[in-house]
Amino acid sequence: MAGTDRGAWSSRLGFILAAAGSAVGLGNIWGFPTQVGQGGGAAFVLVYLMCVALICAPIMVAEVAIGRRAQRDPVTAFRVIRPGTAWWLTGLLGVLAGVGILSFYAVIAGWTVAYIWFTATGAVTGGQQAFGEFFTAFVSNVPVIIGLTLLVLGTTASIIVAGVHGGIERVTKLLMPVLIGLLLLLAIRAVTLPGAENGLAYYMRPDMSRIWDIGVLNAALGQAFFSLSLGMGAMITYGSYLSRRETIGTAVIWVVVLDTGIALLAGFIIFPAGFSIPGFDPATGGPGLIFTVLPRLFATLPGGHLFGAAFFILLAMAALTSTISLLEVPVAHLIDAHGWSRPRAVLVVTGATAVLAIPSALSNGAVPFFTSLPGLGMGFLDLMALIWNNFALPIGGLFVALFVGWAWRIDGALEELQAEGASFPMPAVWGGLLRYVCPIAIGLIIVFTFRAAFGG
Ligand code: TRP
Repeated sequence: MAGTDRGAWSSRLGFILAAAGSAVGLGNIWGFPTQVGQGGGAAFVLVYLMCVALICAPIMVAEVAIGRRAQRDPVTAFRVIRPGTAWWLTGLLGVLAGVGILSFYAVIAGWTVAYIWFTATGAVTGGQQAFGEFFTAFVSNVPVIIGLTLLVLGTTASIIVAGVHGGIERVTKLLMPVLIGLLLLLAIRAVTLPGAENGLAYYMRPDMSRIWDIGVLNAALGQAFFSLSLGMGAMITYGSYLSRRETIGTAVIWVVVLDTGIALLAGFIIFPAGFSIPGFDPATGGPGLIFTVLPRLFATLPGGHLFGAAFFILLAMAALTSTISLLEVPVAHLIDAHGWSRPRAVLVVTGATAVLAIPSALSNGAVPFFTSLPGLGMGFLDLMALIWNNFALPIGGLFVALFVGWAWRIDGALEELQAEGASFPMPAVWGGLLRYVCPIAIGLIIVFTFRAAFGG
């Protein structure tokens, strides 16, 4: 069968490493603190954790099960399990989302690459204001930003031409422990800074009145999907390289715990460190939050240049294991469903992504039109993040839940989850979450977000 020539992970650990490598990235360390800052602090954290546990974890199990059963790309997978239906459109939405997300993700990954150099050489110095001004000047430098974006896309493409199995497992195995170690060190430094208590209170004491804020609910849901690489078939694709001898349930728990733990840890760095700066406002940092708070934190450490450079190297590597999974979804689709060669698929998808990335690269002060789109009051990059993260991913997840819960059906999926005697915890709870909780919660959040936006 095709599974043999499509390649496979070397073991369950291989899958966990690759899936965690996909999940852990800019979403955890850049996206999560930024969203917490804009969502008002601890209330966002609470809603986020509920989305992860009740909506996203069950959907991750569903995606991996679909992939492993079908052993195909996300579009073909739906066709294999339910031939002659329109469910494959869910996979197609994912393929498009892969290109859309990668187009702005590569821009931000490019920023982290530049900050390796900036922190190592001490290019960013001075007071808080200087850090902010440095960032603003840097992101509006057109040739540099475009060059970095293309560098990220080119590196991702050159790794992926060789297939995803070889390098990813090894890189991630080394990356995760080192990243966690460094984050722990930075968190200890941050919470011992003067004024850190205010940051901890902001991060851990929820303002309950914001829990039902539809903006917060939608942002937390989108962030949870984004951080866990869900809703666009990345986990279907990675599941399709997983052997039937491995236990899906345990693997998913590992990935969810790692990803969520690393995001929470990032918050324990950014908010204590941020609030130790006089006049700090977490809501105004926007996409530059970590790039202005962290260099200042490094400056308080002995050997801060080295810490800073090491941090941004790890972040860039974590971003790379995520861009690989984003590019792999459309590439796997062109190979599996259209019979393209891997090099051709990589070339065409990367080219298309690069074109779409240009307006995002120019949307942080470089070109006024893209920085503030007429009539929308937001930049092109923010618009991309909104469309794909807040809408496309949760809608993709909604269809995955409906597909497994009502079309493939829970017992069909359980057969896959419990294949060859594998244990799967609480199958009835999982089935209930997938059939009822996921579709209803996602559906309500999407509908109310539209009503709030269009004043219905
Ligand atoms: N999860 C990654 C991060 O947090 C980003 C990512 C990689 C992703 N692959 C994805 C997001 C697939 C959604 C879908 O940085």
